[in-house]
Amino acid sequence: MDNKINSKKRLIVGISGASGVTLGINMLKILMKNLEWETHLVISRGAELTIAKETDYTLDDVKKLADKVYNINNIGDSIASGTFKTEGMVIIPCSMKTVAGIACGYSDNLLLRAADVTLKEGRKLVVVTRESPLSIIHLKNMLSLAEAGAMIVPPMVTYYNKPISIEDMNRHIVAKILDKFGIEVSGFKRWGEEISK
Ligand SMILES: Cc1cc2nc3c(=O)[nH]c(=O)nc-3n(C[C@H](O)[C@H](O)[C@H](O)COP(=O)(O)O)c2cc1C
Repeated sequence: MDNKINSKKRLIVGISGASGVTLGINMLKILMKNLEWETHLVISRGAELTIAKETDYTLDDVKKLADKVYNINNIGDSIASGTFKTEGMVIIPCSMKTVAGIACGYSDNLLLRAADVTLKEGRKLVVVTRESPLSIIHLKNMLSLAEAGAMIVPPMVTYYNKPISIEDMNRHIVAKILDKFGIEVSGFKRWGEEISK
């Protein structure tokens, strides 16, 4: 669904089947209110399951939070090409399977292909990797991604901002990720600074 006109900055948001799908939903909700940005959403099959298991959202509810939604199987859609201009991509949360796929260049679905394209075009790729504990395979794949230029941002809890709820923690994690794209989220507490309004 195209809600906004085309002069917006485009951000590809991938949601894969790791735990913490609520982080991806929170990010879409924040970006929906940001008139400078346009979200291009691709949801993996695994994520369809985690949305059902971990949230009260239906798949359609989540899709409605994005400006444009892609079918994961449509590997020829616009985000599969580097000529489609974007500011980059966030995969939130990112499963170890998706990490492995990107690390190997094994782009057999549109989310993986979009990540591959983001890297090859030298655009910003932020992967919110989530698994615990991490095996040596997971760690090696994440190292490959970091070496290829991706930013690995696991959804780590921070304490300096004194969160009092899970919502506080989630919002801080999402704000920290959006900060990588120069997107300011109200209430984000930076160390040594006043709270942004
Ligand atoms: C409720 C639930 C939670 C899961 N949590 C994780 C997780 O935190 N990290 C992970 O790497 N995989 C997790 N998985 C497994 C992935 O969903 C599975 O490996 C899937 O094939 C990933 O495919 P995708 O990356 O294409 O979504 C979870 C699965 C379910 C059903």
